[in-house]
Amino acid sequence: MNEPRLIVALDFNLPEMALDLAAALEPNLCRLKVGKELFTRGGPQLVETLQQRGFDIFLDLKFHDIPNTVEKAVRAAADLGVWMVNVHALGGPRMLAAAKAALDDVAAPPKLIAVTILTSMGQAELAAVGLPGHAQDNVLRLGKLAQQAGLDGVVCSAQEAVLLKRQLGDDFVLVTPGIRPAWAAKGDQTRIMTPAEALAAGSDYLVVGRPITQAHDPLEALQRVANEMQQASC
Ligand code: C5P
Repeated sequence: MNEPRLIVALDFNLPEMALDLAAALEPNLCRLKVGKELFTRGGPQLVETLQQRGFDIFLDLKFHDIPNTVEKAVRAAADLGVWMVNVHALGGPRMLAAAKAALDDVAAPPKLIAVTILTSMGQAELAAVGLPGHAQDNVLRLGKLAQQAGLDGVVCSAQEAVLLKRQLGDDFVLVTPGIRPAWAAKGDQTRIMTPAEALAAGSDYLVVGRPITQAHDPLEALQRVANEMQQASC
């Protein structure tokens, strides 16, 4: 069995709901993403419980602080045993280097991923925070910074994946949300791609939330997405 390239986003406000959903899923078909809301409510204990049930965890806390603080936070994530953790590339080269240094002596380090530009930010908002130019130029510049600091990859939209793979190479991991199978509701996502399209564009790991978490039968939805990904990779 290949490693699962599907990451289910556990966007729940109650840890019990996250645990109930996890009980319906298969760790050999997916990994799980725990974000700010769920982690703030469930804490490391929830992450440990999910790991004990066999799931790899992407701890999506997007650290962004002074280098010393981010280094210690990334080390805490590694000590928790998570599979993937992320930081904001806008924290700058020294912060990125500190995040990387936190994992130097970790035997099985988590994948260390950067967030470049939040997809919620349009051109006007980027200019308002002093980042003029196209979002894609900012994404590429920050992706290069993350790569130079030795990070493993970035979170990006599937639309950005082609450019980033071409510019940053095959080994630089691309983690992509905004995925909608053809049979699923779009919800509030706008620039979406199907799992097969995202893999074809160069994404390595796909983050899927509501099409699975809100499905009438989450395991069936998970299997459908996993099958689509399997077929697209053949
Ligand atoms: O339910 P849905 O599939 O839209 O969930 C996607 C997940 O990916 C959510 O946890 C969302 O916060 C996250 N995400 C996103 N777009 C980004 C970054 C993260 O949808 N640009």
